[in-house]
Amino acid sequence: MQHNTDGMWVNIGGRLMEPAAASVPVLDRGFLYGDSLYEVARTYGGALFLLDEHLERMEGSARLARMVLSQRREEYAQEMIRTVEAVRKSPGRGNSDVYCRIIVTRGTGKIGFSLKNVETPTQYAIIAEPIDRFLPPDFEKGSSLRIVERFRNDRRALDPAMKSGNYLNSLLAYLEAVASGDADDAILCNAQGFVTEGTTFNVGYVRRGILATPPLDSGILEGLTRRHLLRIARELGIETREVDFPKERLHEADEVFTASTLKEIYPVTRLDGRPVGNGKAGPVTRRLAKAFSAWARASVGRAAGAA
Ligand SMILES: Cc1ncc(COP(=O)(O)O)c(C=O)c1O
Repeated sequence: MQHNTDGMWVNIGGRLMEPAAASVPVLDRGFLYGDSLYEVARTYGGALFLLDEHLERMEGSARLARMVLSQRREEYAQEMIRTVEAVRKSPGRGNSDVYCRIIVTRGTGKIGFSLKNVETPTQYAIIAEPIDRFLPPDFEKGSSLRIVERFRNDRRALDPAMKSGNYLNSLLAYLEAVASGDADDAILCNAQGFVTEGTTFNVGYVRRGILATPPLDSGILEGLTRRHLLRIARELGIETREVDFPKERLHEADEVFTASTLKEIYPVTRLDGRPVGNGKAGPVTRRLAKAFSAWARASVGRAAGAA
């Protein structure tokens, strides 16, 4: 079979291999039911950023999923680092930053929800590849987003605080947005009519210099980018509010931005087919993006120096 790995490496339960050699059993519960969890981390200068916080969040997801992880945090961390290193040892990839995804499934066994059917410990796979393919285009261009009709999952249904392998809600929202022909991605509201988050990113807006973002209890994933952005904004003296707001607030905002591991802080320049503010990345978004990016790169440098 022909394949082009482009520097991608896969780690299945501690065994490193090329993607073409990697497979998962058809009776894996991740495949059968979406009964799995995941995290996406990235490197700066080759070092995985906020690795411990990602794995801590995964442990929180496991608690929400009533899943008992078979590996300790240190083992997942070590294997993620090893997989990243394999990418960086690929020809011409020595200086690449790396995208690194870990997936943990409840295990493999017989069909049927009962845990008695699970015949293995939790299983994990790690996929790492050069980050280039995931990086956003130009910061100045920003995103064009659509606030879709589809609701974000209710916290009492599939709690968005759990980063599970069941992303169909987000995927359908994405497809709804791009079908409009004028959007790259989607923002979702909850059933109460308040804005929650994007498909794979948190959102915030700026109005009269104040930064607002939906609160955790609106039904969102607590993004690590969002968490550190709020801290950095406060340190810069920018007033921040975690409040519920309807979608009209985003339409009236001076600036709208997204926050996620891969795109960091990124401007939304069009929303629902209209420009946001003057249609350009705004001054507060610019300032925050710059501060976040500098802190991220410096904090990884400090961690590496301390090791
Ligand atoms: C639904 C959702 N919200 C927010 C985020 C952003 O989280 P982070 O900043 O930790 O990447 C993600 C990331 O994948 C996500 O899937």
